[in-house]
Amino acid sequence: MIDIVYDVRRYRQKLADTIREGDNVVELGPHIGKSTEAYYNRVSRAVLVDKGIDCKEALEEFCKIHDKATFICGDVRKFDTMSDAVKKIKRCDVLALDMGGGRFPDTVFKVWATWSAILKPRDSIIRCRGLAEFIFRARVTDDTIKEDFDDAGWLADYGRSTPDKVKEQLEEFSIWVDI
Ligand SMILES: C[S@@+](CC[C@H](N)C(=O)[O-])C[C@H]1O[C@@H](n2cnc3c(N)ncnc32)[C@H](O)[C@@H]1O
Repeated sequence: MIDIVYDVRRYRQKLADTIREGDNVVELGPHIGKSTEAYYNRVSRAVLVDKGIDCKEALEEFCKIHDKATFICGDVRKFDTMSDAVKKIKRCDVLALDMGGGRFPDTVFKVWATWSAILKPRDSIIRCRGLAEFIFRARVTDDTIKEDFDDAGWLADYGRSTPDKVKEQLEEFSIWVDI
């Protein structure tokens, strides 16, 4: 399942409702760990990735107290950050992404698309208002595109399933402005 929300309380609630006993979770943009607290008790492992200077110390502290959590201080748009995360987790059941709910939807989608292509999560939870509004506005008017997908939490047919392709795509971020 891929869920999109905007309200931060709903985001945390969705994490709590979706994450199951023994799940491995990759959370992008946990800030100081408030969203992590919503599901932490149930996980086998949580990999938390954030680049914020303001939350670095708090997340380091969080991981000292919560030993199933690992913090990676890095930019989620970078391939090296993704490689680092993949090394720390055998499989990913849930991919959660919150770069700030009002962030440009193209950036949020690209980050989700690249990370989900490699991690192949059972469920994805994305916090982004622009994406939600786009989905409400848009109609798919091409019946060659199938509506049902076996890969519920990601999109296998989208063609990003090799690390090389993903690396190539992520390198395009270098020409984007820092938001
Ligand atoms: C709104 S906060 C997350 C709030 C958190 N999910 C919660 O429920 O409390 C967004 C976080 O995304 C992080 N972030 C934004 N862009 C990022 C990027 N490119 N790489 C890593 N982290 C990023 C910010 O540093 C910030 O901590």
